[in-house]
Amino acid sequence: MIMPEIQIQIDLIKEKLEKADTVTVLTGAGISADSGIPTFRGTHGLWKNHRAEELATPAAFSKNPKLVWEWYDWRRGLIASKEPNAGHYMIAEMEKPFTRFHLITQNVDGLHEKAGSTNPVELHGNIWKVRCTGCHGISFNFDVPIKLLPMCKECGGLLRPHIVWFGEPLDKIDIEKSYAAVQNSNVVLIIGTSGLVYPAASLAGMARENGAFVVEINLERTPISEEMDVTLIGKAKDLLPFFIR
Ligand code: OAD
Repeated sequence: MIMPEIQIQIDLIKEKLEKADTVTVLTGAGISADSGIPTFRGTHGLWKNHRAEELATPAAFSKNPKLVWEWYDWRRGLIASKEPNAGHYMIAEMEKPFTRFHLITQNVDGLHEKAGSTNPVELHGNIWKVRCTGCHGISFNFDVPIKLLPMCKECGGLLRPHIVWFGEPLDKIDIEKSYAAVQNSNVVLIIGTSGLVYPAASLAGMARENGAFVVEINLERTPISEEMDVTLIGKAKDLLPFFIR
């Protein structure tokens, strides 16, 4: 049973999507929460029990690469045991009706691709990729568990997760693609992100300034809710099916 005020919001978003030819979706950990993957913040968030500065910074890796790798190996095992949910599949389905469709994700779990999304911009990297600290070569590695410490087959250097850690810059091309996407979209959907980590958190405001209709889908209001045209409260997996043409 949908509350009448939510139905009004859903109808408005559907109307905007009907008229749109360019759409961007930005996702955060909330989209994968419905698959059973913990988010970072909130009551059961990863950063409640783990200190980001000991696990997700270049300094942490230099100090104790084994500890960092053990944490990523645990997360890889967890993610490997999960599947995409209806939210991921709906986003993959949304690519079809629009002339241009862009997916930007802060997630590193690879579930968007697994659900069929093509070429998402992975702003924070991908947990299934490793990067050599010596020759900087990037490759896929799906081993669960991964052999610790993993070494580069090309040069023998230490491999690290291909993840953007705190204090590291995002890939320049990914940022440019993301800015271009939101600046040229008629509708932007911001799904399951706390809006606390930049520059991803700046994309909503940028979209709005450029005339997009900006929608947030989240379990609760966030610090970026003020920048939205509509904030739709609920689970992504329950709400996204309304927007499939
Ligand atoms: P957060 O954990 O900060 O926020 C998750 C958001 O998803 C919260 O606002 C929740 O309310 C919402 N949420 C939870 N379940 C949901 C559901 N079923 N449907 C809709 N929304 C739901 O995760 P992010 O914003 O993605 O970076 O975090 C951003 C970055 O901070 C991450 O990429 C990670 C982290 O530190 C790095 O590791 C570099």
